[in-house]
Amino acid sequence: MSKDKLVIFDTTLRDGEQSPGASMDKEEKLEIAQQLEKMKVDVIEAGFAVASPGDFEAVKLVADTIKDSTICSLSRAVAKDIEVAGDALKGANSGRIHTFIATSPLHMKYKLQMEPDEVIEQAVKSVSLARSLCDDVEFSCEDAGRSELDFMCRIIEQVIDAGARTINIPDTVGYNMPDQYANTIQQLIERIPNSDKAIFSVHCHNDLGLAVANSLAAVQKGARQVECTINGLGERAGNASLEEVVMAIKTRPDYFNVDVDIDTRHIVPTSQLVSKVTEFAVQPNKAIVGDNAFAHESGIHQDGVLKNRETYEIMRAEDVGWANNRMVLGKHSGRNAFKSHLAGLGVQFDNNEDLKEAFVAFKQLADKKHDILDEDLLSLIKR
Ligand code: KIV
Ligand code: ZN
Repeated sequence: MSKDKLVIFDTTLRDGEQSPGASMDKEEKLEIAQQLEKMKVDVIEAGFAVASPGDFEAVKLVADTIKDSTICSLSRAVAKDIEVAGDALKGANSGRIHTFIATSPLHMKYKLQMEPDEVIEQAVKSVSLARSLCDDVEFSCEDAGRSELDFMCRIIEQVIDAGARTINIPDTVGYNMPDQYANTIQQLIERIPNSDKAIFSVHCHNDLGLAVANSLAAVQKGARQVECTINGLGERAGNASLEEVVMAIKTRPDYFNVDVDIDTRHIVPTSQLVSKVTEFAVQPNKAIVGDNAFAHESGIHQDGVLKNRETYEIMRAEDVGWANNRMVLGKHSGRNAFKSHLAGLGVQFDNNEDLKEAFVAFKQLADKKHDILDEDLLSLIKR
């Protein structure tokens, strides 16, 4: 049976850029967008066109240049924002206006100072205006994670009637637990009479470290678009990380009933580009893209991987864009890895005694020195 497609919506250039200290100029945004296009990301949210003249120019440049991905601009549910977004997207091969309004009691009362019925009216008006400018319109219930289900059912039914094709349910403050969030998605799809006319999307923040888990749990209950960012960049603790969502789907086809079009070999180069542009380092133990994600130092693991990679690796380093996995020689390494690493440097031992002696010297050095370089190993052998 063929699987449903999961739309990958990357918001590195919008939500990611809202990360304090991560702002990017238009050329940098274009370079990242070109990399995302190569990766076959379905939708690239290029910015918030009304936010500044620079952001308008960036969205426009990305929209005018990128051909294979849909280019999206965020806009509040305000006429001016929507018109500016529409202008920035005029040159796009495929453009999308993404408009949002808050739907939680807390946001409606204190931030918007609007009654729920006024919020619905504003949302419907905004989606209709957006549809008059662009065929592809996404609507988000901001703070959906703390919104009332009945109210979301009402507003979503009406914005779908007004022409929204994608309905996004953000857990704006990263408050939800996976089963709770997944249940919200399931309930919305089941209860809204016209839910079949839209794709339900998830957008999870990582305040409790659950953004990827929440997104994947929602996919299991019918979400067919995931909004995510490279390296999990984004407001506060960030968004769901694209590389983790995509590799979970790719690595567990037995579990997920959806597939993605992403060319995963571009993941690591894209992560490195985003890290370079934003000057945000990637933590070494970050899943998929961290320096240690495919590195082994312990002797037991190195021995296992040398005999059969699958003993300690569930993905191939090459499939996500690393040149290969890495055996790091350190005080936990075993003789097998030591010997095979030296063989890679062209050193063969005449007999077991020589190997044993060199290995003892290596362990003594590894107790004192954290990073053992190839030069260190070669000088050990020469002694
Ligand atoms: O987190 C959020 O609610 C958002 C919306 C504007 C989509 O980023
Ligand atoms: Zn967000």
